[in-house]
Amino acid sequence: MKAMSDKPLVSIVMGSDSDLPIMTETARMLEKLQVPYEMEISSAHRSPARTAAYARKAAGRGIKAIVAGAGGAFHLAGVIAAETTLPVIAVPIANSSLGGMDALLAAVQMPGGVPVGVMAIGKAGAVNAGIFCAQIIATADAALSGRLAKYKEELAQAVEEKSTRLKAELLANANDIME
Ligand code: RP5
Repeated sequence: MKAMSDKPLVSIVMGSDSDLPIMTETARMLEKLQVPYEMEISSAHRSPARTAAYARKAAGRGIKAIVAGAGGAFHLAGVIAAETTLPVIAVPIANSSLGGMDALLAAVQMPGGVPVGVMAIGKAGAVNAGIFCAQIIATADAALSGRLAKYKEELAQAVEEKSTRLKAELLANANDIME
């Protein structure tokens, strides 16, 4: 991860430093898409007043979307959503004996009126949270929209290359057997 000097548009908040290895994936994706972000540790349970204050001030500082990641009884995303009108995206983390299902269900079962967008558990969810934030911001940023389109092309190209490699390996194996 590299520090970004531009004014952050996305806030990545996590409940503890033990969530950092997963939430770094969100940061990496935002860097790839050139979306400035900030990172913060704040806990819904261990530092509730700090978390609420941070959420209340985020929009005024120019933040456009908030990603919240935590494990266990994952209330961080919901608590932040209660205090802001910004879109809040949750990344459930497998950090307990329940393997992340606890965090997933805690994040997704929000009461009507206080939405939280919930990604997959773990690394894929963290990656997708970065893309999702970029997609939100890209609705008013044509250059970012172009970078997202390029990323999609890269994904398709990578599949193409894997398929070509697989066919080459199968052919090589078949030739080995014939010899
Ligand atoms: C959650 O509890 C945190 O977000 C983390 O996923 C988990 C464990 O936290 P630590 O005990 O490692 O600080 O609130």
